[in-house]
Amino acid sequence: MDNRPQWGTRAGFIMAAVGSAVGLGNIWRFPAVAYENGGGAFFLPYLFAILTAGIPLLVLEFTLGHKYRGSAPLTFARLNKKTEWLGWWQVAISFVISTYYAVIIAWAMSFAYFSFGEKWGKDPGAFLFGDYLKLVEAPGQVGSIVPSVFIPLVLVWVIALGVLFKGVKKGIEAANKIFIPALVILFLVIVVRAVTLDGAAQGLDAFFKPNWSLIAEPKVWVAAYGQIFFSLSIGFAIMVTYSSYLPKKTDLTNNAFITAFANSGFELLAGIGVFAALGFMAQQQGVGVSEVVTGGVGLAFVVFPQIISEFPAFNGLLGSIFFICLVLAGLTSLISIIETYVAGIQDKFKVSRNKAVAIGGGISAVISILFATQGGLYFLDAADYFINQFGIVVAGFAEVVIVAWVLREMKVLQQHADSMSDMLLGAWWKICLGVITPFVLGYMMIQNFINNLKENYEGYPTSFLLYTGWGVALAAIVVGFVFAAFKWQKGSLDLPSADNKGVSK
Ligand code: ALA
Repeated sequence: MDNRPQWGTRAGFIMAAVGSAVGLGNIWRFPAVAYENGGGAFFLPYLFAILTAGIPLLVLEFTLGHKYRGSAPLTFARLNKKTEWLGWWQVAISFVISTYYAVIIAWAMSFAYFSFGEKWGKDPGAFLFGDYLKLVEAPGQVGSIVPSVFIPLVLVWVIALGVLFKGVKKGIEAANKIFIPALVILFLVIVVRAVTLDGAAQGLDAFFKPNWSLIAEPKVWVAAYGQIFFSLSIGFAIMVTYSSYLPKKTDLTNNAFITAFANSGFELLAGIGVFAALGFMAQQQGVGVSEVVTGGVGLAFVVFPQIISEFPAFNGLLGSIFFICLVLAGLTSLISIIETYVAGIQDKFKVSRNKAVAIGGGISAVISILFATQGGLYFLDAADYFINQFGIVVAGFAEVVIVAWVLREMKVLQQHADSMSDMLLGAWWKICLGVITPFVLGYMMIQNFINNLKENYEGYPTSFLLYTGWGVALAAIVVGFVFAAFKWQKGSLDLPSADNKGVSK
């Protein structure tokens, strides 16, 4: 008998998967990554990465979770006892991400409030780093807790854990059914406003105009794969966990395609909205778009406030809508990230859901306070970079190599996916995961590793990067092996007999 919770409807599952995929990565990461890596020319590697790695890996993770019906550690343990560590490693990566991801959502909450009255004044850069974050002078200094970050952070945790306490169907599914439609509507308001601003065409031109000289550079391809993994929530236990709550009958391949296209559609929409707005700002200032474009923290919390201040009307309202979009997109992703370790703890240690949420979420919430200190931004920046480059990407690589080359499970998994789906996976699926992805990713990892050894990320001191970046990425693997060493309770690894009620395809 299988007591695993189940999504109420297929639409509920898809909404949750899309909610996980669409996050901060789509709105503040994608536009800048695309621009820095050749604008229109980036779409070629981006499309290649989606088709050869993104969608095939999503199908793989949906199939693994559905077939083995467990959190990532349980799924990989059921696949083969020797690969449980891979599941815990991915869960540990998610744990790290959740500690700082929550803080970025907290900033967005503050800025939704600051939008009314444009509290950032004439110099949003000075406001963000000085007045708001009260940033320390050098990386590694901690300083004191910043109340204006800490208070919204508490709110973020209360909402996220509150949803998780309510469970898969009544919590996660219900929240996504409200948050995702709200996000789409609000974001459309922003995009429509952005593309109708003066100068929008100039911005879109900069975004879509291909810079073909960059296409041959490995770093462009590296960036495309990194973006797809983060954005599609693959390689860090999420999609395996979410698909373990699917009913027995569901179209796995189709679910993966819908999720991937919805995510990329949103990503493209975000790119269009952001660049149209940048074009407007460039025109207002009489400079080129390249002079106003920036990524990450700078784009969302410095450039956007500047743009909002220059809007012809409804500045406060439009500003807060933009930041509420960030909050909604971020919350649905954060919930999925936390669910990976809630499910892992529950499966392995046989504790109640409430205990798993309280313990896992509680520890993560306490650690996240570090990022709400005056030195938080530096810690966040280093942890984010390293856990992405040397966590997600490497874990995704390990996943395909282990499944395709070591365990040689592709055929069995393909049969499972095909038995569920209308669209049959052809040879392309095996070729993409068994050949193309391992080689391209393998190359990307080596390249990345060498570059990061040669040059310190952002020029940060080596000692700082050792414990905030390299150390964190390494610790995630160590945690993977440590948790895998604990014994399972008797019978835990047996596959439950199928008692699903089943939902139509
Ligand atoms: N997939 C999530 C994002 O894009 C984590 O932010």
